[in-house]
Amino acid sequence: MTLITHPALSELAERRYVLLLGGSGRLGLECKTCLRELAIPFWAPVRLEIDMGNLNGIAKLLATTPPAVIINAAAFTDVDAAETQRSEARQINADVPSILAEIASKLGIRLIQISTDFVFSGQAGRAYHEEDEPEPINWYGATKRAGERAALMAAPSTIVLRTAWLHGNGRPSFVHAFAHKLANGERIRAIADRFGSPTSAHSLANQIALICKSMFDGDDVPGGIYHAVGKGSASPFEIAHAIAGELDADVSLIAASSASEQPDIAPRPVYAVLDCQKIEEILGLSCEHWQDGLSHTIQQAGIRGRRVA
Ligand SMILES: NC(=O)c1ccc[n+]([C@@H]2O[C@H](COP(=O)([O-])OP(=O)(O)OC[C@H]3O[C@@H](n4cnc5c(N)ncnc54)[C@H](OP(=O)(O)O)[C@@H]3O)[C@@H](O)[C@H]2O)c1
Repeated sequence: MTLITHPALSELAERRYVLLLGGSGRLGLECKTCLRELAIPFWAPVRLEIDMGNLNGIAKLLATTPPAVIINAAAFTDVDAAETQRSEARQINADVPSILAEIASKLGIRLIQISTDFVFSGQAGRAYHEEDEPEPINWYGATKRAGERAALMAAPSTIVLRTAWLHGNGRPSFVHAFAHKLANGERIRAIADRFGSPTSAHSLANQIALICKSMFDGDDVPGGIYHAVGKGSASPFEIAHAIAGELDADVSLIAASSASEQPDIAPRPVYAVLDCQKIEEILGLSCEHWQDGLSHTIQQAGIRGRRVA
């Protein structure tokens, strides 16, 4: 591990701060914005400063300048590549949370571990609750589930937030790909027989920042697994229609396709919708409807194009 003593750390050493891992990712970028908005001090080291591929230095860093809270938004997120780069995916998604939780437990640090809807098979035919038994169908999902388990075993106070289908304006997503094409009057094909919980990365980051604030304020924040997603469910086809609505674009540009027409290297769950009632009831954090989150992302992206005559 390359460990650089960042100048920001010497300032933060005297204060309670959040260590944000994965701060350059889609979610991490939004976390930075939301932590700033709540005036929560944080350090978000880049890969050069903390490489999750080497576990040895993490303990040293945490022991010398322990944060009050760790947000682990770093992950091996390429679901198809995980099938072939198995040990790397396991290390980042399972071994890192395990070691973070061990250290967190010893030093009294709270850990917020981000997980995924891909821990489920998608065969239930209904929205999943936190107590449903995970049954991952690809290696990415298996490693993320192993990370959840290891973190909760080593530090039961860990907050595991399962999320899904993230979109935001830091790192472009499938939402941007659809939006740009529709805005340019190009035809798109979108899967109509796979369903999930589209989630605004900004909304999730806001929930994470509020959890950090509660922890800093000394509130009771019970550990465990929570689903943190946009409410409702949608297929990519329905998302494309919602985007067209936001852009006032021509919906006849959108053709429905089947997941079986575009086979992925890693199998994907067909119906991985998550129920988010628990986070609302226990942590008091409201989950917005997926269409509101999508609308926010599209408006923020400032994508404009040809409008329907
Ligand atoms: N995106 C989704 O739709 C989705 C759905 C469900 C759950 N999630 C979960 O949400 C969390 C955030 O996902 P995201 O979409 O923000 O991911 P992302 O955009 O792919 O970002 C991943 C982050 O992890 C960092 N990272 C990866 N390998 C690293 C390594 N070896 N050393 C140091 N840093 C490393 C990346 O750094 P670099 O910038 O240097 O690569 C980046 O900051 C993850 O836990 C993911 O599993 C995401």
